[in-house]
Amino acid sequence: MKVKNICCIGAGYVGGPTMAIIAQKSPEITVTVVDINAKRIAAWNDPDVNNIPIYEPGLAEVVAEARGRNLFFSTDVDAAIDAADMIFISVNTPTKTYGMGKGMAADLKYIELCARQIARIATTDKIVVEKSTLPVRTAEALKNILDNTGNGVNFQILSNPEFLAEGTAVTDLHKPDRVLIGGDLDTEAGREAIQALVDVYAHWVTEDNILTTNVWSSELSKLTANAFLAQRVSSINALSELCEVTGADIKEVSKAIGMDSRIGPKFLQASVGFGGSCFQKDILNLVYIAKSFGLEEVADYWEQVIIMNDHQKRRFAAKLVKTLYNTVSGKQIAMLGWAFKKDTNDTRESASIYVADYLLNEQASVVVYDPKVTEEQILADLDYLGTRSEAENRALIRVVNSAEAACDQAHAIAIMTEWDAFKDLDWNAIYSDMLKPAFLFDGRRLLDRKVLEEIGFDFYAIGS
Ligand code: NAD
Ligand code: UGA
Repeated sequence: MKVKNICCIGAGYVGGPTMAIIAQKSPEITVTVVDINAKRIAAWNDPDVNNIPIYEPGLAEVVAEARGRNLFFSTDVDAAIDAADMIFISVNTPTKTYGMGKGMAADLKYIELCARQIARIATTDKIVVEKSTLPVRTAEALKNILDNTGNGVNFQILSNPEFLAEGTAVTDLHKPDRVLIGGDLDTEAGREAIQALVDVYAHWVTEDNILTTNVWSSELSKLTANAFLAQRVSSINALSELCEVTGADIKEVSKAIGMDSRIGPKFLQASVGFGGSCFQKDILNLVYIAKSFGLEEVADYWEQVIIMNDHQKRRFAAKLVKTLYNTVSGKQIAMLGWAFKKDTNDTRESASIYVADYLLNEQASVVVYDPKVTEEQILADLDYLGTRSEAENRALIRVVNSAEAACDQAHAIAIMTEWDAFKDLDWNAIYSDMLKPAFLFDGRRLLDRKVLEEIGFDFYAIGS
């Protein structure tokens, strides 16, 4: 079977970019991305392609090429489901905030709503693809819902987790290390569905890089990949603290161990703590699954990755307060960067949110600059924590339009996101406009200690 019409439910950080690339590479397939968030869809359809809702290097160009040709964004979910022969579900799967599994399990209500909507609307056979990251055996629940419609429609369910990282989504999608497709390998219909999706990716991915497995392996591999990646960051961050007290330097240690081909050099960058919408949520989900099978040691092992990450964020903030003579009350702290990593406007679970919250609790006057994050988002992130009232947040925090403005008359600077532009700031000029002693806390190992100390900064960097 050749797929002619794809619908993707969820026009977020995954649905938007992945479908844009499928449409770009497969001009004969009509791709419609739908969402209940009308504001988001309007932004995807903005005549000025630079206003699409997600900032990713290279994405605007891809959207400009395919939008209106075979790539469409719409709020008419029913119509898109009806027309499609393949439906990707790419909705959010946040950590549950209520009931059983609160704070750990994945909240699958959005996924289930999609399944019920597909069951209600579909009148022709469909391949349903799990693109969202899901607990192992979710496909079974989807299948139960879809198979009980009684309208004679046949559904095949595939798992096709996404491995793109934000900030590099377009290159990751153009050249994926692997595409993983899980499906029912035991039946003819299952194998046909798998092949239909393989054929979509084969437009630009070599078949060697397309891996097919059973559904459960595919679902679990996604959680495992994120757990391994996050574990590397927590491992290097744990050692960054040891470096600070022993005189070793984490950059040198990372390089030395990364040259061992068995360890490899990637993902060994010490930081103020990992953020992003997925690492924490997916590990908590893994921990919850392990616990639900009574595997306490397995659960505790992975939970430690999160405990270490929380510690890293807290100790960075605490170090700042301690260095500023144990009080930041009334002092201006410039935070450079709010996004959870460079080259994205995504702030979900960013370390900046937690560090700012800590500093605000200490009554600091926090001034934030991020090249891609809006003031509205920064305030929303803080309000969401619920630590203090919206009015109090607005009284204590200011968002400005340049790094220079954030640092003017500041007591200390904290580098929170590794934006390239921060390397090239005129640090001499920034130093002159600060109160003295001028403290600089590099949470990303972005700057050269020697240069900054020569300018006159009291310089602190994670892991040295
Ligand atoms: P997101 O919040 O940016 O986007 C999800 C979208 O789904 C939202 O716009 C929401 O309005 C929409 N939605 C929810 N329910 C809907 C419904 N019933 N009908 C129509 N639209 C609906 O989330 P995201 O970052 O794109 O993540 C989506 C999934 O992909 C998650 O499971 C996540 O774990 C996984 N994932 C994310 C990344 C990443 O880098 N962000 C990478 C790999 C996998
Ligand atoms: C991560 C994975 O890398 C993707 O493969 C996966 O698809 C995605 O999660 C997901 O499932 O959502 P992402 O969170 O976008 O991608 O970005 P990463 O590059 O993995 O960075 C995550 C966090 O770890 C960032 O805060 C980053 O600054 C931090 N990090 C990363 C470090 O502190 N040190 C490193 O060496 C690497």
